[in-house]
Amino acid sequence: MPTDQQVEAAVTAVAHPNIALIKYWGKRDERLMIPYTDSLSMTLDVYPTITTVRLSPAAPADDVRLDGAPAEGEPRQRVVDFLDLVRGMAGRGEPAVVDTRNAVPTGAGLASSASGFAALALAAAAACGLDLAPTALSRLARRGSVSAARSVFEGFVLCHAGRGAGTAADLASYAEPVPVPGFDPALVIALVNAGPKAVSSRAAMRRTVETSPLYRSWATSSGHDLFEIRAALRRGDLDAVGEVAERNALGMHATMLAARPAVRYLSPATVAVLDGVLRLRADGVSAYATMDAGPNVKVLCHQADAARVAETVRAAAPGCSVLTARRGPGSHLRAETGQ
Ligand code: PMV
Repeated sequence: MPTDQQVEAAVTAVAHPNIALIKYWGKRDERLMIPYTDSLSMTLDVYPTITTVRLSPAAPADDVRLDGAPAEGEPRQRVVDFLDLVRGMAGRGEPAVVDTRNAVPTGAGLASSASGFAALALAAAAACGLDLAPTALSRLARRGSVSAARSVFEGFVLCHAGRGAGTAADLASYAEPVPVPGFDPALVIALVNAGPKAVSSRAAMRRTVETSPLYRSWATSSGHDLFEIRAALRRGDLDAVGEVAERNALGMHATMLAARPAVRYLSPATVAVLDGVLRLRADGVSAYATMDAGPNVKVLCHQADAARVAETVRAAAPGCSVLTARRGPGSHLRAETGQ
């Protein structure tokens, strides 16, 4: 049984966003957060989320703060539901004080939910006295957001969709690192619009699964894409990795465009950046684009080409902010605890 001092200790965790090269899009179990398809991502070294959790036995309810302001509505409820899950696993009932700082613009298709729930999973589990193995931590993070399962790990990461139903699916759906020593590309991020998206990814993927005639064929081809990209990663072949990643992302957006009504995240500035990427390739630069549930574009390239890629992207979409990321660390606890 933890002592009172441990109960009150604040735990701080750090997690970084990840960008999927093979996307997850669509859940077959929304309660357990089980995706339809496997995915593969790169954890980044930018835009960390830093989350502190402290159990507070005397508090009347959970106190959730997002970037300094009290969280309300659905964002608050998602955190409270997640805390309930962790408390249930740990056999505890105390309210918690949660303070989350996001360096990434929240809700703009830049994976803030991935870093957010990866950091919360680690901080909340530790605050409740749970010492989870990486696979169990990844499964827990998945319950907050499927992409968060991947931010538990460094570098390139595979997320298993898992088979079966109920507990079997829950046990089988987790991420694990894909060791690719020496493969260290750049990811140039073009933030064409940092505002929140009009349709949440949760609602958009549900509509896509339910109404898009293209969804099933994308899900099937995504399995082939995963096989190919793993072989390309083993060879350290950036062109092959990029080609597969770009077609997988465009295919995912095609499923949404065919949904009824259509979900369209890509804006004119997105398309201008995609044109810039095509021009770079025509000039012999290895550059490949991927987009998530938002208009922003991430361009995979060799580090030596990152400055040229960033310049092309800026010229293609004047006013956009551009940042170059590399592969980054998995979620981890911060050494200092206590507030
Ligand atoms: O993590 P969510 O539930 O917000 O879903 C986002 C999914 C994509 O970013 C579009 C793709 C992915 O695999 O990260």
